Amino acid sequence: MQVIDRKNPFPVKIQERYLLTKEGSTKETYHITLDLEGAPISFKVGDSIGVYPQNDPLLVETILEVIHAKGEEEILYFRTGEKMRIRDFLQFRANLSRISSSFLKTLHEYKKQGLKSETLEELLKKENERAMKEYIGRSEPLDVLREYGDGSIPLTELCNQFAPLLPRFYSAASSQKISPNHVDLVVAAFSYTHLGEIRHGVASHFLCHLAEINKTSIPIYVQPAHEFGLPADIHNDMIMIGPGTGIAPFKGFMQERIMMETKGKHWLFFGQRNRKYDFFYQDFWEELEKQKKLRLDLAFSRDQENKVYVQHKMVQQAKDLWQWLEGGAHFYVCGDGVQMAKDVEKTLQWIIQGQGKMSEEDAKAYIRNLRKEKRYQTDVY
Ligand SMILES: Cc1cc2nc3c(=O)[nH]c(=O)nc-3n(C[C@H](O)[C@H](O)[C@H](O)COP(=O)(O)OP(=O)(O)OC[C@H]3O[C@@H](n4cnc5c(N)ncnc54)[C@H](O)[C@@H]3O)c2cc1C
Ligand SMILES: NC(=O)c1ccc[n+]([C@@H]2O[C@H](COP(=O)([O-])OP(=O)(O)OC[C@H]3O[C@@H](n4cnc5c(N)ncnc54)[C@H](OP(=O)(O)O)[C@@H]3O)[C@@H](O)[C@H]2O)c1
Repeated sequence: MQVIDRKNPFPVKIQERYLLTKEGSTKETYHITLDLEGAPISFKVGDSIGVYPQNDPLLVETILEVIHAKGEEEILYFRTGEKMRIRDFLQFRANLSRISSSFLKTLHEYKKQGLKSETLEELLKKENERAMKEYIGRSEPLDVLREYGDGSIPLTELCNQFAPLLPRFYSAASSQKISPNHVDLVVAAFSYTHLGEIRHGVASHFLCHLAEINKTSIPIYVQPAHEFGLPADIHNDMIMIGPGTGIAPFKGFMQERIMMETKGKHWLFFGQRNRKYDFFYQDFWEELEKQKKLRLDLAFSRDQENKVYVQHKMVQQAKDLWQWLEGGAHFYVCGDGVQMAKDVEKTLQWIIQGQGKMSEEDAKAYIRNLRKEKRYQTDVY
């Protein structure tokens, strides 16, 4: 059987793509279905899909122009030993978002003498390490090439200064037990302004806008979840906290639990900006709620003056949440790990402390025990 992994990804195509956010939304999040027909790929709910993206051809052409290359020139890529056209290298292999100090050193070595080169020389001095770090932090390869690349550096040498383009992960949002030949993803398109120019997140832009349906080849592999999956006892209750794209794995979880005919209960806390525009898979969740298979709490942060987040909804339901936990429920969190997951954990601790009439230490120990029993599982990024 063919092994598919990070080093040996399998090319698939997008079968379907549509916006989950409605016109008028302040966000753009897509439902994307990848076609797995004939692909030797198997995943479990909770796993993520590793996707090798492509860089934006517009950015690639701009870089080619700046370095005075046509695009057809052949380079030898030292990491893989591939001989390839520089255009392909820049589109498929190079990280066009990050620079390193060796990137700058190489540019400096080849730079003809001039005022700008002197600035680079200053930056490269040991005593200016901090300024250098700051410069690297705020600069992208295109900026540096515009400023210091004058076309005198050999192309292979230049290409070998780029960090590799790495895969990005997206939670599987469907169950392969229900739909063996595809996997759904929920992808938030992401863009920002850099030095007055619009830049896009590489993989989200590629998946949401650049890749052509049924046409573009997308190398993927399965990134198995580390302790993020359905309860071993199929009748255990589940509490799922999934604001934003964090909702993705819970769609697959629910599909599978319904198929299992579990006696367990389900409770989802979902949050997004506005109910009118950003209620992902509204029909699916509301239908489950109608069938009494799901309890649903929604936090639309921007529908009122003060922000309402999933953890505020948890506080309102503290008593019931405590009862579910005491009844053996599993507690899941998926989505933003920078702030949301931390705030949710603090709230969980507050609930346990208050409802269980415990000290702070005991509440923390209760959470540690939940983790030990694999009843507190997170998939955050
Ligand atoms: C296990 C796991 C599961 C995931 N599941 C999902 C999922 O289901 N759905 C989903 O949408 N995402 C998911 N992600 C996140 C996803 O993998 C990508 O990180 C995300 O799509 C952004 O990647 P990108 O290539 O589009 O952006 P990148 O090209 O990587 O750009 C992001 C970069 O932009 C920089 N940046 C951010 N803001 C600014 C700014 N204002 N100005 C300048 N630079 C900025 C950041 O530092 C970052 O390096 C998951 C991540 C993990 C680890
Ligand atoms: N760098 C950026 O500018 C930026 C911005 C947004 C998202 N992202 C990234 O884009 C990806 C996708 O975003 P997403 O669509 O999943 O969701 P998201 O935009 O991160 O947010 C989803 C919901 O969570 C709310 N939220 C914000 N902070 C929270 C907190 N501390 N606790 C609980 N809820 C909180 C948001 O409210 P409010 O937005 O109203 O506060 C929104 O209602 C994520 O990986 C995220 O990190 C980056």
